[in-house]
Amino acid sequence: MNVTVVGTGYVGLVMGAVLADTGNDVLCVDNNVAKVESLKNGKIPIFEPGLEDLVKRNVKEGRLEFTTDLKQGVEHGLVIMLCLPTPQDEDGSADLSHVLNCSADIAGFMNSYKVIVSKSTVPVGTVDRVKAIIKEKTDQPFDVVSNPEFLKEGAAVMDSLKPDRIVVGSSNEKAIKVMKDLYAPFVRTGNPIIIMDERSSEMTKYAANGFLATKITYMNDLANLCDKVGADIELVRKGMGSDPRIGPQFLFAGLGYGGSCFPKDVKALINTSKVNDHPLAILDAVDEVNSMQRYVLIKKVLNHFKNSLEGKTFAVWGLSFKPLTDDIREAPALTIINELLTRGASVQVHDPIAMDNVKHVLEKSVSYCEKSYDALQGADALLIITEWNEFRNPDFDKMKKALKNPLIFDGRNIFDPKEMKDLGFVYYGIGRGVNGNGPH
Ligand SMILES: NC(=O)c1ccc[n+]([C@@H]2O[C@H](COP(=O)([O-])OP(=O)(O)OC[C@H]3O[C@@H](n4cnc5c(N)ncnc54)[C@H](O)[C@@H]3O)[C@@H](O)[C@H]2O)c1
Repeated sequence: MNVTVVGTGYVGLVMGAVLADTGNDVLCVDNNVAKVESLKNGKIPIFEPGLEDLVKRNVKEGRLEFTTDLKQGVEHGLVIMLCLPTPQDEDGSADLSHVLNCSADIAGFMNSYKVIVSKSTVPVGTVDRVKAIIKEKTDQPFDVVSNPEFLKEGAAVMDSLKPDRIVVGSSNEKAIKVMKDLYAPFVRTGNPIIIMDERSSEMTKYAANGFLATKITYMNDLANLCDKVGADIELVRKGMGSDPRIGPQFLFAGLGYGGSCFPKDVKALINTSKVNDHPLAILDAVDEVNSMQRYVLIKKVLNHFKNSLEGKTFAVWGLSFKPLTDDIREAPALTIINELLTRGASVQVHDPIAMDNVKHVLEKSVSYCEKSYDALQGADALLIITEWNEFRNPDFDKMKKALKNPLIFDGRNIFDPKEMKDLGFVYYGIGRGVNGNGPH
């Protein structure tokens, strides 16, 4: 099938690559000239495990191409997938300007029947708006389908090759058939393609992200209570998660959700609820608790140093909003580093992948260290912000030698408080009991 992907970011590039890999002829369109140039030169602008190989192989075999020319893109694809940004607007709603403006541009170039697929996360009713915009500008036949994306950054290629489910929102048989044909290679093991109306499909994406954000936030809020009452959230998590109605996933306490999706999607759903005169009080609470959570670790640091960080040096391990990605959008690390710098501290950071991205956004200067142990050199304490695997089993003696004090603030609970104490560290986690040292 001829497929055009419009928007070659985390979603679009992965979609383009996996669709090319199942034999489709894919043309990716992006209006960022530099990005398209680098893709044409074989450079992948984002880090995503497995993506580089997939892109290179399909480019080499002639099934995956890149362009800035939307007209060429529209003429190429039977299916045109919109993988465009829907960032947060000032009032919390999703900014639909990219999706709506691009839809109007697409309509101007249509030369035959097209299935326009909204992969972007968009509020209920957006498919109807896209339909109306296109209808006004062309007499060509077309359908607009909602097909929300559920991939997780850091596992995007695997999620796309083996999705748990594919949601298709359409009331048109012809468009549904095209979508089923396109996705047939990805559902061979029985994972479902769930067909529904457009509005339910649009809502499904927000409902899923709102639920996941709530699950994380509930655990974070409980963790803070655990700190007060001397319980250990890690033990509580295990006790809870073994109940199949709860499940073990998404129960890890930490510094709050970040990234390019949960924060804006929660806010957009809150906006939809208010506009429709049905405020979702539960999500208001989630949003508020989450915005406080990234300050929990800094509060522990301030407490320990009696509110005086002037002249101190802190090592920071982990910058991306989660492991296995270079994405730093809404990353807690940025808030925490800025808090340290504002209070007169120096900061030495290490991240396996995301340091280059951070260099472009931090206003004040920090030291970037290629090796994790270099960031510890002479530091008054280590702050662990992102739970990259390489931090899980370090050489503790080496750490103690490098640090000025054997002091760790662990925002991701990757170590055991008792073991850390036995190793001679002062260790603060999230929700690990009194003073973060736990009631062991
Ligand atoms: N990133 C994720 O993990 C994820 C997961 C599920 C859903 N989503 C949703 O998918 C959508 C895209 O997210 P993303 O993370 O891939 O965004 P992104 O910012 O990484 O990529 C968007 C791309 O679109 C391009 N673009 C913008 N306007 C354009 C235009 N008019 N024409 C052509 N290209 C244009 C940008 O240059 C960029 O390359 C969003 O709605 C997001 O909420 C994202």
